Amino acid sequence: MILERPNVINLRKLQAQLGGLKNRPDIDQLSKMIKMFQLYQAGQKEISTKLENLDSEFQVNYDYNPIHHMESRMKDVQSLLQKAERKGYELTVESIEKNIYDIAGIRVITNYVDDIYKIEKMLTKQSDVTLLRRKDYVKHPKVSGYRSLHIVVKVPVFQAEGPIDVPVEIQIRTVGMDMWASLEHKLRYKTNVDKKLVDQYGDQLQGYADELEKIERGMQDIHQNLI
Ligand code: GTP
Ligand code: MG
Repeated sequence: MILERPNVINLRKLQAQLGGLKNRPDIDQLSKMIKMFQLYQAGQKEISTKLENLDSEFQVNYDYNPIHHMESRMKDVQSLLQKAERKGYELTVESIEKNIYDIAGIRVITNYVDDIYKIEKMLTKQSDVTLLRRKDYVKHPKVSGYRSLHIVVKVPVFQAEGPIDVPVEIQIRTVGMDMWASLEHKLRYKTNVDKKLVDQYGDQLQGYADELEKIERGMQDIHQNLI
């Protein structure tokens, strides 16, 4: 049996690591932020469980799983504060809660394009899940060729004092879209790639995004005809 020991966060050490920030939060604010992270992580678990349950129910009813796999991640304190600073928000818990919605994130990788919308519908019609934001880059891809459905939902987390609503960002995309986004991300974020090559590969990837779309639609049609 493996027992996982939770990370103990040392607030002073953490504060020291945040030296690069212009307005470094004090220990009191940082301690509030750590509590906020615990809450957001609980919200992320609530949504992950809901998605797993929906996938299992689908398997029983239709002998098929819409979800290929899921990944979840929490933004770390450092990149959260850097993002807040970059966007010009105050580095307090109140301001971060009001303005930043991707502290808790889940990526859902589906088998086919239609599964993206099935999952969104099944999740958002649950009575304790509320849709806060929605960006459909599947119907309206980015110029880069990036496709994915981004939604932010809020879900109540039951604390000792009562329920608190927590936002969770969910990116839903197919296996093909995920493969494309991983490679394109590598191209954009690798700093040592020649600018000319970045442009050339960028164009190439943009073309592949269209081709992938056609292939995925075609494969979905075959799959549907086989049900
Ligand atoms: P921020 O979250 O504040 O950056 O802005 P936003 O919410 O307007 O961003 P957006 O909806 O574009 O989604 C941000 C996330 O989507 C990024 O962290 C990436 O994971 C992903 N993403 C968005 N655009 C692209 C893209 O062109 N290529 C790749 N590979 N990923 C992208
Ligand atoms: Mg975002």
